[in-house]
Amino acid sequence: MFNTEFIAFDSYAPPRVVTNDDLSKLVDTSDEWISSRTGISQRHISEGENTSEICIKVAEGLLKKSGLAPDEIDLIIVATITPDFATPNTACLVQAAIGAENAFAFDISAACSGFVFASSIADKYIKSGMCKNAIVIGAETLSKIVNWEDRTTCVLFGDGGAGVVMSRGERNCYLAEDMHSDGSLGLRLTGGETKVRNAYSAPEEADRRYLEMDGRTIFNFSTKRVPASINILLDKAGLTIDDIDYVVPHQANSRIVEVVAKKLGISMDRFYMNIASYGNTSAASIPMALAQMDREGLLKKGTKLVITGFGGGLTWGSALIEI
Ligand code: UT7
Repeated sequence: MFNTEFIAFDSYAPPRVVTNDDLSKLVDTSDEWISSRTGISQRHISEGENTSEICIKVAEGLLKKSGLAPDEIDLIIVATITPDFATPNTACLVQAAIGAENAFAFDISAACSGFVFASSIADKYIKSGMCKNAIVIGAETLSKIVNWEDRTTCVLFGDGGAGVVMSRGERNCYLAEDMHSDGSLGLRLTGGETKVRNAYSAPEEADRRYLEMDGRTIFNFSTKRVPASINILLDKAGLTIDDIDYVVPHQANSRIVEVVAKKLGISMDRFYMNIASYGNTSAASIPMALAQMDREGLLKKGTKLVITGFGGGLTWGSALIEI
């Protein structure tokens, strides 16, 4: 069995910043409602860049930061619910753009848990000896599946992407994990549906193309499942929450994280939050937070982090990683 280390972090957000006040010109909302209910002040919205273009910028940054050549990458995974195409997958578009000719490349779909699940997959390929260097990206252009006339959802989401390079190394830095799904609640958070329309079938109902969410159910699910998952994770690792430097949660809503903090008996400053600047970017939110922490010098050798994702599927999962 081999070891997995994290060797580079990077992120990219489209340049257009949309503030809460900007949104109050589109729908009946206010900065006061959005910031007090969610902690979001602004989000980045694509003016045309699709998910693959965001991923390519992230992958180029990761190559530069890791010092790896494109032909040294042997695995690319993109976690996204907003791919450019059903096929080719986003990871193959990245592979072609960066010239990673020795990589195999695929996408995974697990919404806001996508990056946690994808990093777990990469860890197994590396630990088994099958891969040496993996690029793992979470990226979304949620703006293309948001209903810009629905104030209950359009204020929540943003676009962006980020990723990590995970490589075979000396130390084991992917220490423990806890992953779950509950498909019975899946239709409480939907988007991007395409019904069967062909020569033999013409359904009358419209596709549920836009993101629709039973916010209260997802709120209750998250505040119940996330602390439980973190406790299971810590038990598996034989650690307590005091051994953890930062919890890096999916950035869905500051109020969710406040409840999680209370249930874990720790203060909010143990959680790394950047939701105010980016909103909810689904699969991108955890790696975007990691990349920002890296830029701020918070990720030092030996720093212990819990990453925890939750959302569509419904899915949730946590991993304990060491830098
Ligand atoms: O990443 C995927 C996982 N997603 C999540 O984790 C989201 C989880 N859920 C939430 O974060 C919260 O449920 C929301 C932020 C989505 C909603 O907050 P809430 O405190 O549950 O509000 P609510 O849905 O109960 O709505 C309260 C009121 C309603 O008005 P009435 O019926 O009380 O008159 C809404 O119509 O707020 C109204 N409202 C708004 N008002 C101004 C809903 N959206 C807005 C808005 N601006 N943007």
